[in-house]
Amino acid sequence: MSKELLTEKESATGAEAKRVGLLTRQPLFTLGKIAFWAFLIVTLQATGLVVTLTIFNGAASRDSVTFGVLALTATILFITRVRWVQAISILVGIVILYIVVAEPFAIEAFANPKGPNGGFGHFIGNVLAPSTVMVALVAGVATVLRNYCLIKPQKPRWLAPAFSVIAGMAIGALFIGALSPASVPVDTVAPLQAPQIPAGSGVPTSVDMGMPHAPISVSQLQAPTNALQVDHFTLTAQPAKLTPTSDITIPAWTFNGTAPGPTLHVRQGDEVVVTLVNRLPFGVTIHWHGVRIANTADGVAGVTQDAVKPGQSYVYRFIVPDAGTYWYHSHQFSDEETTNGLYGMLIVDPATPTIHADVDYALALHTWNGPNNQPLYTMNASAGTLNQTARPGQWVRLRIANTAETPSGNPQLVTLVGAPFQVVSLDGHDLHGPQWLNNTPLPIGSAQRYDLLFRMPAHGSVALVTADDSQRYARTPALLIGQGALPATLPALTRWFDLTTYGTPAVDTLTPQSHFNATYNITLGNQMGTSLGRMGMTYTLNGKVFPDTGMIMVKEGQRIKLHFVNQTNLYHPMHLHGHVFTVLDQNGQPLTGSPVHQDTVLVPPHATYDVAFVANNPGIWMLHCHNFLHANWGMDMMVMYNVSTPYTVGSASGNFPD
Ligand code: C2O
Ligand code: CU
Repeated sequence: MSKELLTEKESATGAEAKRVGLLTRQPLFTLGKIAFWAFLIVTLQATGLVVTLTIFNGAASRDSVTFGVLALTATILFITRVRWVQAISILVGIVILYIVVAEPFAIEAFANPKGPNGGFGHFIGNVLAPSTVMVALVAGVATVLRNYCLIKPQKPRWLAPAFSVIAGMAIGALFIGALSPASVPVDTVAPLQAPQIPAGSGVPTSVDMGMPHAPISVSQLQAPTNALQVDHFTLTAQPAKLTPTSDITIPAWTFNGTAPGPTLHVRQGDEVVVTLVNRLPFGVTIHWHGVRIANTADGVAGVTQDAVKPGQSYVYRFIVPDAGTYWYHSHQFSDEETTNGLYGMLIVDPATPTIHADVDYALALHTWNGPNNQPLYTMNASAGTLNQTARPGQWVRLRIANTAETPSGNPQLVTLVGAPFQVVSLDGHDLHGPQWLNNTPLPIGSAQRYDLLFRMPAHGSVALVTADDSQRYARTPALLIGQGALPATLPALTRWFDLTTYGTPAVDTLTPQSHFNATYNITLGNQMGTSLGRMGMTYTLNGKVFPDTGMIMVKEGQRIKLHFVNQTNLYHPMHLHGHVFTVLDQNGQPLTGSPVHQDTVLVPPHATYDVAFVANNPGIWMLHCHNFLHANWGMDMMVMYNVSTPYTVGSASGNFPD
């Protein structure tokens, strides 16, 4: 406390010592003053930035705030020549402290790198930026305290530091409040970021998925033009704001302004002509999920077409050979585009009706990134209660598609309350002799469809309810059919529906005893690694990530068996384009009920699954996990006939199917 410690210019005079207060007396040193004032200025600027962005953008991008704050804080630290060793130790301490406070966000940044709070940038935004701001704060307070020690003791001695600490806490709280996700109002959702073409090392530039010198190209594999009926549709990819409840608005990319897009109703054997018009600022395609389509119209960017550029249009022409419940979605950056709304349902009525229904209702279950980055479960884009009329005694068919995935990747559980029901078809393919079920939970994997049939009771309503990842039925979203309200108590989750024992046996083309021309083992795995130049959790087929996963070569007419071995703790809904799987067995146990035909088979954790298909549709066909995150991080391969393609996957074309 000797006088020599004081600077030349600013010795603590008696007059100064008498001034009590945060702003007037504290920073006696020039550096301390700079730190102090600069910190206040940063606070004001960042607050202004947040306000401005909120007004003009709907929500402040955490990255922009982070950038501004980091730049300014770095400037202050530089100008004030804070002792770096001290600064760094304070930084480390504060990072640790902040991680404890912000732990869920920090964990989410790494555990869910693709999520709305994911990745290193968000880790920086959520943890480092506020911490760095705290450093400036602490430096300011430290300067103040040091000044205080250097001037003459006076009274009240505790007042100034107390003020500093309180002011510091207020300023820190302001920052953390401005930066934390909790500051997002409950009814707003983060704006969508257009998919970015990956670039840099590790990103493939141009991968040819075909057989380069094959006699036939995918472009020649067109549908015949002899159908009696031609159905025309136009689907315009465009942005829209959805309101799943009256107080929640979700930005979405849609077909024709709604998600799900229009339900397309066609008849088996029809020729379907769909014009896709792209009014979005990035490339899109449409894949007709589950339809045994001619390869040209399969809608896979980089395999059967180039992604349709902004402002352009593209015509899909195909025959629908099978009746049933199907759906359509973009197959360019599927993970982002389909999840954010580019999907709809496709219903193919049978040429000769098999199942009578008075009411036929299609329902897409979709999980959105909702307010505060929480999952928002919807039925036909409603997070509340949907109503459908039906009179007592009428037969009702519900066609349920899971067009997204639950956050855990577990199947979406649904059940019907109020009437016994049958599962009449899976992925559009009828089951044989389905039994009646009561409140049985139905596990619907991503991309799978379940068709239910039931009869309206003499009085009261019937409700379709879903269970989220908490493993309990929720009251919303729900579909209420007929007059009445949701039952006061929802049933408990009982034993799940098991497709391997449901229905009654019937003769089938492919059985476990069939002769197969080839059997392929496909191991489903996950491990830390790189995919498309990114580091993170990859999902692998036989230990490899797309596009290094190789391919399955088939010849027309062959019977092919796939043996899936799931080595992970996760479900994998495995989908093959252009063909239909016959399920042979699960864990070596052959099916005891109806034959099951699916385009997407849900392989449970640590299970094996045998499926077979007849190679009767030449082309280049994707075989991939339909959990969009898994597909995006490697879980894709091709089933190939001897066919070439003029298209490529990679940064040169900008085609990235998942
Ligand atoms: Cu529903 Cu390859 O997709
Ligand atoms: Cu998967």
